[in-house]
Amino acid sequence: MPTTVWRHEDVGNNQAAKREVISFNETDPFATPKPESLIQRALEIATNPGDLILDSFAGSGTTGAVAHKMGRRWIMVELGEHCHTHIIPRLTKVIDGEDKGGIIEAVGWKGGGGFRYYRLAPSLLEKDKWGNWVIHHDYNLHSAPIPREDLELNSPKKKILSAIDKTILWNFQCLQKFLLGRR
Ligand SMILES: C[S@@+](CC[C@H](N)C(=O)[O-])C[C@H]1O[C@@H](n2cnc3c(N)ncnc32)[C@H](O)[C@@H]1O
Repeated sequence: MPTTVWRHEDVGNNQAAKREVISFNETDPFATPKPESLIQRALEIATNPGDLILDSFAGSGTTGAVAHKMGRRWIMVELGEHCHTHIIPRLTKVIDGEDKGGIIEAVGWKGGGGFRYYRLAPSLLEKDKWGNWVIHHDYNLHSAPIPREDLELNSPKKKILSAIDKTILWNFQCLQKFLLGRR
């Protein structure tokens, strides 16, 4: 099997990666950031300009920042609050041309482009205490026991429609909050 060694002089190291993160979040350099030059090497080998790159464990957003500067499209997914504390501030700086670190000199980055941000709603379904799949309690307007006379109103169809309405409302409210925060 062919092997290769990527030396830190060529592709950076964790200290360099932390310095890159500190440039957009002074208080939290993130525990395990990757240096931009390391991701650049991987993307040079495996992708072409315009390709779509997925990082479903985005962390501090290095993959998206590098992909963006290299003219690739990207999707990042993040479970934690890093999305707000690291990824959005980092990519905003990259787009506004205010990011002065990482691979900008290597690729001649000046800024440009954009991104869309979505917050996923909680799962529509969850298991109840008997192991049956039921509508997640976050969507269930009637989490208290349903009085007999309301049973017709709370038919499964009506509950699902209400759950879908709440999902749309949830996404709209998150987007609205994000857009207002950007002003
Ligand atoms: C090791 S870090 C990634 C570091 C990243 N490569 C960088 O350079 O900053 C892994 C990230 O995956 C996130 N994560 C873990 N499980 C996840 C999941 N199921 N969906 C989305 N993100 C997840 C964690 O919150 C953490 O931020």
